[in-house]
Amino acid sequence: MANIGSSRDGFTSKFGVIAAAAGSAIGLGNIWRFPYILGNNGGGAFLLMYLIFIIAFGVPVMTSELLIGRKAQKNVFGAFKSLSPNRPWYLVGTMGVLAAFLILSFYSVVAGWTLEYVYLAITGSLSGTPDDINNIFTSFMGDNFWPYLWTIIFLFMTALIVLGGVKNGIEKYTKILMPLLFVLIVILDIKALTLPGAGKGIEFLFNPDFSKINGSVVLAAMGQAFFSLSIGMGVIATYGSYIPKSQDLGKTAVSVSMTDTLIAVLAGVAIFPAVFAFGMEPGQGTGLVFKVLPNIFNQMTGGFIFSIMFFVLLTIAALTSSISLLEVIVAYLSEEFNMKRKHAIWSTTLVVSFLAVMCVYSDKVFNNFDFFSSSVLLPLGGVLIVLFVGYVMKRSGVKAELESHGKSIAWFNIFYFIVRYIAPVAIMFVFLHGIGLL
Ligand code: PHE
Repeated sequence: MANIGSSRDGFTSKFGVIAAAAGSAIGLGNIWRFPYILGNNGGGAFLLMYLIFIIAFGVPVMTSELLIGRKAQKNVFGAFKSLSPNRPWYLVGTMGVLAAFLILSFYSVVAGWTLEYVYLAITGSLSGTPDDINNIFTSFMGDNFWPYLWTIIFLFMTALIVLGGVKNGIEKYTKILMPLLFVLIVILDIKALTLPGAGKGIEFLFNPDFSKINGSVVLAAMGQAFFSLSIGMGVIATYGSYIPKSQDLGKTAVSVSMTDTLIAVLAGVAIFPAVFAFGMEPGQGTGLVFKVLPNIFNQMTGGFIFSIMFFVLLTIAALTSSISLLEVIVAYLSEEFNMKRKHAIWSTTLVVSFLAVMCVYSDKVFNNFDFFSSSVLLPLGGVLIVLFVGYVMKRSGVKAELESHGKSIAWFNIFYFIVRYIAPVAIMFVFLHGIGLL
């Protein structure tokens, strides 16, 4: 069995790593969180900020993270310790592990909703008027049993996959299923765009209204960029440590970011036309996608089958993200504390189950975990990561790592300038402005 802790098993193919990193990036963040945060933050202007952040911060932070992981050949915590011994940079790793706990907790809750929707789709219960669909979600949220059980079931599924190790666990699932999810989203887009009144949704999404931009919108866009790309907390560094030296890290970062962004935008193109076509509110919060999508399926020939496939694939997309979160914690516990992987997996699952139950119980806990991890911990982690690459590592070492596939890279100076001067200052500015300190 593949075992990260002892043998540092690598990925079998180039596509394998990209698929796994993209598998971590693509998930509920694209299909659930992106539309709901965008809807809450005024639409087009948010999208514009989001795209700017993906390019300006997302790609450089992801490249930096990959290179730290690959250079050190360790989990985040150990990576910082070995690249800069005697200095407290490993605290970035500690923050990442904390973020992983928080994200995994509320993420499992939403993944639990997705499992409920798989069940509802199979039993043909997702039918009726938009009002009926709305009530299905509301009454599920008010239930005192199923939201808890589905959350725990999802965490169990995550734990079982991580028990299987890197190759068996991750590569196998992402390679075939993510392209399939992509196809389904495109089908949904086509249907949504042909609904009467779809134009308003497209306008909401693509026509920026700059009066909607303020500090908290900008911070939300930055948080979403970090969250969606899985950056700023070590997930990507951990994957980086499994990437062969023959692979171009810059290209990897660009492909993963582009794929992830494309999926989020396509999810938006499915959801907002439908929101307006069915006379719904774009800014209604966490339930948005679950209240909108079933209506589109109900208008489609073959909607029954499509809805089952969609929610199953969404569950799988959520799993390929949740396993990466669990992996960060497990790699940390097993490599730093010599804990057996099996023990690390089950004890983490136990702790996260407890936190997740609190998220189901209280919206406030849910929202605080969500905000604190994506808008605080990830951006701060991102700043520390670029500062580390820009100031702590040697310039020659950074360059060598980025060129280890044997070709010199033309963009090195731009990259180096961004990680030293632009990204850290700009991320801190957005952060401080967003929380009202600047
Ligand atoms: N990027 C994942 C998603 O969009 C969530 C995630 C965040 C995973 C941070 C790992 C780390 O669903």
